[in-house]
Amino acid sequence: PYVNTKDILEKANKEYYAVAAFNINNLEFLQAIVEGGIEKKSPLIIETSEGAMKYAGMGDPLRGASLFVKMVREFADSLDIPIALHLDHGKNFKYIISAIKAGYSSVMIDASDKPLEENLKATKDIVRIAHAAGVSVEAELGKLAGIEDNVASAESVLVNPDEAKYFVEETQVDFLAPAIGTSHGAFKFKGEAKLDFDRLKKVKELTKMPLVLHGASSVVQEMVEIAENYGADFGGSKGVPSDILKETVRLGINKVNTDTDLRMAFIAGLREFLQNNPKEFDPRKYMETAKSYVKKVVSDRLELLGSANKA
Ligand code: G3H
Ligand code: 13P
Ligand code: NA
Ligand code: ZN
Repeated sequence: PYVNTKDILEKANKEYYAVAAFNINNLEFLQAIVEGGIEKKSPLIIETSEGAMKYAGMGDPLRGASLFVKMVREFADSLDIPIALHLDHGKNFKYIISAIKAGYSSVMIDASDKPLEENLKATKDIVRIAHAAGVSVEAELGKLAGIEDNVASAESVLVNPDEAKYFVEETQVDFLAPAIGTSHGAFKFKGEAKLDFDRLKKVKELTKMPLVLHGASSVVQEMVEIAENYGADFGGSKGVPSDILKETVRLGINKVNTDTDLRMAFIAGLREFLQNNPKEFDPRKYMETAKSYVKKVVSDRLELLGSANKA
């Protein structure tokens, strides 16, 4: 069924596991994610960025949002696993309202680049509107940036746990993304991967709410190797290692945002297939390997995070 993201995450919070939130831009990634979720009997959170809404709607975000709701609901309504649709990194009022109007299960209001008071105000406004429509809300505190890039200014970049407590009480958000040293994309750490576990632990103790890890892709080595064997150059790429990810779940992370790993799996499969099948031009065929690699990464992640068999 199609469910509120809050229901998925509150169960995860009570039972100490995490649910991956997978970014999509099109039908094929959605199909691969749904296949993984069915195989692992796992709840699923599908998310789209504002850019995805614009892309899918050919420039019209409301049209894009409506398309995503229709696609996701069509699968969710006919399946036993709970599936939610979330707006990732909502920064513009127009996009957030479009997602709510279209029927998203939850939205993120990301005003984390603004001063605290502005973030508070923007978040409160969205919470009021979203909750009235039965839509849950994620907010972010701190900035996504590697710890070692900001040694001198960690206090200004990473989440402040006392501020987090104040923020969630004031805004009534349903889940919170605390910055603890991850970053988006395929190049997260220059040296050793390192996150601020103490800070995460404090935020959990003080808020007790479902917490979200952004920039959580692991940059799966097997996929990097396949892609590079078929012509890609992903030199220097590095993600959050599996054991570190597991530790963040133990310390209270319940939603694990994952985009880069799916993109890399897809491109690995696409490159492999195209190189090996120079005569093929049917898109349903040439995306087969790509989709199967995305499904593999999805399944592995659901298992690792502990959401398998939690549907
Ligand atoms: O948080 C970023 C997500 O990976 C989505 O990125 O804006 O390229 O769609 P995007
Ligand atoms: P990755 O780039 O690590 O996949 O992070 C995705 C994300 O945080 C989406 O909000
Ligand atoms: Na999000
Ligand atoms: Zn993110």
